[in-house]
Amino acid sequence: MCGIIGAVSHNDIAEDLLVGLERLEYRGYDSCGVVLLQRGNLSRARTVKRVAQLRLEVAELQLGGRLGIAHTRWATHGAPVTANAHPHMSPGDDDARISIAHNGIIENHDQLRSILKKKGYVFKSETDSEIIAHLVDSLYDGDLTDAVSQAVTELRGSFAIAVVCREEPHRLVGAKHGMPLIIGIGADGNYLASDVAAMPVGVRQVVYLEDGDVADVQLREHLVTSADGRRVGRDVRPVDGNSAAVVLGPHRYYMEKEIFEQPRAVSDTLQGIDGITPELFGDHAWRAMKQVSSVLVVACGGSYHAALTAKYWIESIARLPVHVEVASEFRYRDWCADDNTLVVAVSQSGETADVLGAIHRAKSIGMTHVLAICNVATSTLVREASMSFITRAGIEIGVASTKAFTTQLVALFLLALTLAQIRGVIDDEAEGRHLTSLRHLPDAMNKVLELEPKIVEWSKHLASRENMLFLGRGVHFPIALEGALKMKEIAYIHAEGYAAGELKHGPLALVSKEMPVIAVAPNDFLLEKLKSNMHEVSARSGRLFVFADHGCGVVRSDGVDVIQLHENYGPLSPILHTIPMQLLALHCAQARGTDVDKPRNLAKSVTVE
Ligand code: M6R
Repeated sequence: MCGIIGAVSHNDIAEDLLVGLERLEYRGYDSCGVVLLQRGNLSRARTVKRVAQLRLEVAELQLGGRLGIAHTRWATHGAPVTANAHPHMSPGDDDARISIAHNGIIENHDQLRSILKKKGYVFKSETDSEIIAHLVDSLYDGDLTDAVSQAVTELRGSFAIAVVCREEPHRLVGAKHGMPLIIGIGADGNYLASDVAAMPVGVRQVVYLEDGDVADVQLREHLVTSADGRRVGRDVRPVDGNSAAVVLGPHRYYMEKEIFEQPRAVSDTLQGIDGITPELFGDHAWRAMKQVSSVLVVACGGSYHAALTAKYWIESIARLPVHVEVASEFRYRDWCADDNTLVVAVSQSGETADVLGAIHRAKSIGMTHVLAICNVATSTLVREASMSFITRAGIEIGVASTKAFTTQLVALFLLALTLAQIRGVIDDEAEGRHLTSLRHLPDAMNKVLELEPKIVEWSKHLASRENMLFLGRGVHFPIALEGALKMKEIAYIHAEGYAAGELKHGPLALVSKEMPVIAVAPNDFLLEKLKSNMHEVSARSGRLFVFADHGCGVVRSDGVDVIQLHENYGPLSPILHTIPMQLLALHCAQARGTDVDKPRNLAKSVTVE
């Protein structure tokens, strides 16, 4: 994972690098650091704290300069300690000639380390990345671009790197293989970054580097060389300029802000959709979708839960078989490939390494119709897919996915309706009814958000627990999984999501007074079955906390607490039932004093395997 930003400019770039790092913290925040060329020396500040602390250190050391690189880390090789924080220097810290920032994993680092040690290089960190600094230094002969071009031929694994050299004050060199790296073109200078969002406001154009590219970024130009050594011109694209939209406003946490933004996010996602048509997914979607005989959805984490929900929708509305696969598993399994399978990749970021790996695998075995459902229009996933639907959740900062998740559900419901229409298994009246429900969804979501004070009361009781079970049935089973995931990731409470019917096959043994059970209880055709499962809990002295639809007859009693939602919302009910799960996790986390937006050990975007 990790995020990189580098700059070469006519002006001081320290602030640009620090702001860029703040915007890249979603890629990891175990440590961060910056190197600036100052009075002919590469000067560095690093910290295992957040960028705010780095900013203080940069000020204290009076660091500044017109050439520099910066990095925010998610530890893979070596603990999150200062010595392992990037940028790394070579040959030594005091006499540094080369400095690098790296995103990715160098698989042959052990072998290269031994070779470099024999050449006299002394390693200061446990990282795989430090070898790149020494390797470039060992190859340096007056031209940094040449040295980097030679170095990358010796690296195995995945990388995006930004490199500076003390002796070349007007040159920033980047190289990419398997990790994103983008050139930003500004009026006063040029940049390299992992993500467009990290570019300063003045950057209006960007260039997406391709695997194998080495970029020589100078003050007024950038030159790109491809893996075969040819000079290539990569497309220059305009920037949509939404990076400034990251303002917390009156909220304490981004997650809270993002939960309350959901009605707006859903309404933006539906904007301009007057009817169901394959064109919602791209110009050529009809051609690909009309021959589809099954659907394979690949995703990770919360996006995987959205995909599981979609399985229920697509199978019942479009009458198509759906397989849902965890992307990290699918990419390495044997699969009976079928060219008539529609592959759907669901990802907030569009940069999740396992999701990208899964679509590469799908394509390599002949499944070429790939639809991306993604929140980032410029992401690698969208660029690599043949069709796409961009959710309009807006930038999501909190590590826990909230508005991205519910807008993914909206997109997947639209997909179910579209496939049903193409297959002729839905009539106009039913289609119109579903569209009307979708349009009223933001209002219904606002009503659920009004339940927050009741959920805060529950969280006072639940936050002290160390274990929880989440139960759901049918299309709400994935929502129970999502509730448990949220509780784990931000409140650090061990939580398991179960299909309620599975309870008696094992987990019932865990139920006692000490194990709260959260139940998702919509007023649907499975309600009576769920009620039986809840009785199984009550009979074992288990304490139930039930989110029940109005009219479902689940009432408060001894050992059973109920928060009532409004009327059942039909097939879209899982979207409404997600919101209490998010609020419960948020308030438990808040009561436990965790870092809600940046939970320990995690990162927003998981760009390594
Ligand atoms: O960007 P993606 O949707 O591909 O990310 C997938 C998961 O890493 C992500 O959903 C993760 O599980 C969230 N932190 C869940 O809240």
